[in-house]
Amino acid sequence: MTWMITGGAGYIGAHVARVMAGAGERVVVLDDVSSGVPERLPSDIPLVRGTSLDGGLLRRVFAEHAVTGVVHLAARKQVGESVEQPLRYYRENVGGLTTLLEAVVDAGVKRFVFSSSAAVYGNPPDADLVAEDTPCAPVSPYGETKLAGEWLVRAAGRAHGLTTTCLRYFNVAGSASPELADTGVFNVVPMVFDRLTRGEAPRVFGTDHPTPDGTCVRDYIHVGDLAEAHLAAARRPAEPGSDLTVNIGRGEGVSVRELLTVIAEVTGDTREPLLEPRRAGDAPRAVADVRLAAKALGFSARLGVREMVESAWAGWCLRHPEAVRG
Ligand SMILES: NC(=O)c1ccc[n+]([C@@H]2O[C@H](COP(=O)([O-])OP(=O)(O)OC[C@H]3O[C@@H](n4cnc5c(N)ncnc54)[C@H](O)[C@@H]3O)[C@@H](O)[C@H]2O)c1
Repeated sequence: MTWMITGGAGYIGAHVARVMAGAGERVVVLDDVSSGVPERLPSDIPLVRGTSLDGGLLRRVFAEHAVTGVVHLAARKQVGESVEQPLRYYRENVGGLTTLLEAVVDAGVKRFVFSSSAAVYGNPPDADLVAEDTPCAPVSPYGETKLAGEWLVRAAGRAHGLTTTCLRYFNVAGSASPELADTGVFNVVPMVFDRLTRGEAPRVFGTDHPTPDGTCVRDYIHVGDLAEAHLAAARRPAEPGSDLTVNIGRGEGVSVRELLTVIAEVTGDTREPLLEPRRAGDAPRAVADVRLAAKALGFSARLGVREMVESAWAGWCLRHPEAVRG
């Protein structure tokens, strides 16, 4: 098989491309390099610069590379920006996916893996674990585009005999090597690094949540493990018209306080965090039920929060030498 990986020059996509190529799959990357970094890809993985909104280009790449499966990661992903620019998010995330699926169907590509997100759940109800049948109620246009994307993928798959998998990622962190690290400052780990590097204390929003230490609890997964989940999804037995929608996390909750403790140990920066009021809409707890991932994909995460923070910090220090303490 040859897999087209859209968004393969991105933080997660480059890990997916490397893991799949390393496991012997043929891979071609399509990326418009709007937030991607071409240097994340080794020279033996071809990179086509272009957008998932260009149906003509997609058809040419499918033909030239004899593509038989697609892993679709290309998307805009900033929640706050999606509130300010919903039309752009719908155009790129939903419009881009529609164009891609049309080209997939025309080209007779039969396998499709889609990057979804725990954002489809919105603020999950007060349950210990969030299972895949938890009602979806996204609270941002970004989350809406991921939920609409899942609907599109499943409907097209059923109508046109594709084998489809939607992966709902929980909180992604870490990197397989410093060069592959996340360059954005949108997730909690790089946000804390950014504050520390500026000489500022990290901020904690809400210390009175109904959780053991009062701070929000989340499910963090190492991006290297997440990439393995894509390989498992790509290799699940083909069954035309079958769809699978599955949480990808570790199934273990880590509070903001616990995360900050690990970050302090790794960075050596032990300044006390600033305790701020709760933010409206923050769910106290969002931890994945990962039993379906184990059963349907044979996937379970191996790496813990310590490995995530250490590898993320190594990547941060590579790009921010000023962060390294003497
Ligand atoms: N990082 C997370 O915590 C997280 C969590 C849940 C879901 N996701 C999803 O995972 C996917 C990858 O996220 P990431 O963190 O690697 O982000 P990223 O911004 O690093 O990667 C996205 C990649 O897609 C490319 N791209 C964007 N729009 C494109 C388009 N229309 N055509 C072609 N290429 C395009 C960008 O240049 C970039 O290389 C996204 O779909 C995102 O919504 C990410």
